[in-house]
Amino acid sequence: MSILSGKHILLGVTGSIAAYKAADLASKLTQASAKVDVLLTGAAEKFVTPLTFQSVTGRRAYTDSDLWGNEAHVLHVSFGKTADLLVIAPCTADTMAKLAHGIADNLLTVTALAATCPILIAPAMDGGMFDHPATQENLSTLLSRGVLVAGPASGHLASGLLGKGRMVEPAEVFGYIRKALGKNGKLAGKKVIVTAGGTQEAIDPVRVISNHSSGKQGYALAQAALDEGAEVCLITTPTALTPPVGASVINVKSVQEMLDALMNESADALIMAAAAADFRPKIVAKEKMKKRDGIPQIELEAAPDILRTVSTVGAARSERRFKVMVGFAAESQSLLENAGEKLKSKGLDFIAANDISAKDAGFGVDTNRITLLFANGTKENLPLISKSEAAEKIIEHVARLLE
Ligand code: PMT
Repeated sequence: MSILSGKHILLGVTGSIAAYKAADLASKLTQASAKVDVLLTGAAEKFVTPLTFQSVTGRRAYTDSDLWGNEAHVLHVSFGKTADLLVIAPCTADTMAKLAHGIADNLLTVTALAATCPILIAPAMDGGMFDHPATQENLSTLLSRGVLVAGPASGHLASGLLGKGRMVEPAEVFGYIRKALGKNGKLAGKKVIVTAGGTQEAIDPVRVISNHSSGKQGYALAQAALDEGAEVCLITTPTALTPPVGASVINVKSVQEMLDALMNESADALIMAAAAADFRPKIVAKEKMKKRDGIPQIELEAAPDILRTVSTVGAARSERRFKVMVGFAAESQSLLENAGEKLKSKGLDFIAANDISAKDAGFGVDTNRITLLFANGTKENLPLISKSEAAEKIIEHVARLLE
């Protein structure tokens, strides 16, 4: 995951029962090749130990006893200056108040005050504490200073009550971290629309014609565009996946709904990773078809071709609804020939020729084998790589074309 590779993340942990979730977050960041230094407040140490974090990061975890050691002044100043991001998760009401008022009475808050890197907090407290005007004012102060805030979520609280105050799950904080790190990426200020999943064409109120697309490649593209700082709109059919943090999501089912959603949008780039239907039932039965009526004959008609409809072949890039247009071609035979024909007929800047005959590529799996064919006649053969890596490569080309 190149966005986190080699990044220096300071993870502040404060005194909340959600402190146990911070260990999972530290582990996820470390697995993504970030360098993670954990700073525990005294209250955090009541819930978790430095050893917990040292075990998952492979690095020393720091506590308030380090504030009074020999290295103290170097520690807090250098941490806050060299880190790429200071994340405080969980962040209690008490620590939020200290941050808002510039109070620096422990290693974490001293570091936060000296920090020149961006700060992201994931609040965790009881619902009443979060709703309290004091906390709300502190939150407004922090937001107005550019502090990034993840959550809190609503749900079951440690007090036994239901309310807003739960720390968001580590995977979601992780998404916020990616978004914060990608802010000034190659696509900052650009809008990218990605379509994902297999469309569903209704036969009757119960049955659909669909395909095996899981949405994995499309969601990976949305995440890769976010990692480069783009504003991302993900137009998706129903999938089992969680949309990446920061993407605005439009849920659709059929080709027509996907096309309608796109006709309301414009963007710097459109990436059509969705497996959209070529055919659909000509008539959708109003009531559920009954077995006792025998085997139905379902007449099909051509579904609208989304890319052909939205492309403006030959128009200057600046005049197009989507300045850069990227398609995929899922092919089981004559891969490059068929993909090349789609590249031209759909007016694309480039197309990812996707060999779906291989077991480790195409629908459902986590890896892909693609060849990129460009409108200028060049091509790039990508080896077997993860869908995330394939997405990063495609986003690199999109950024280059938009330069
Ligand atoms: O979702 P996953 O499980 O991760 O699988 C990924 C994938 C195999 C679905 C993806 O990598 C892929 O290849 N998507 C395109 C599948 C497809 O519909 O290919 P196609 O050759 O039929 O269509 C060519 C292009 O035209 C595609 O960009 C498609 O989105 C677009 N199209 C297709 C039909 C249609 N009615 N309108 C379109 O615009």
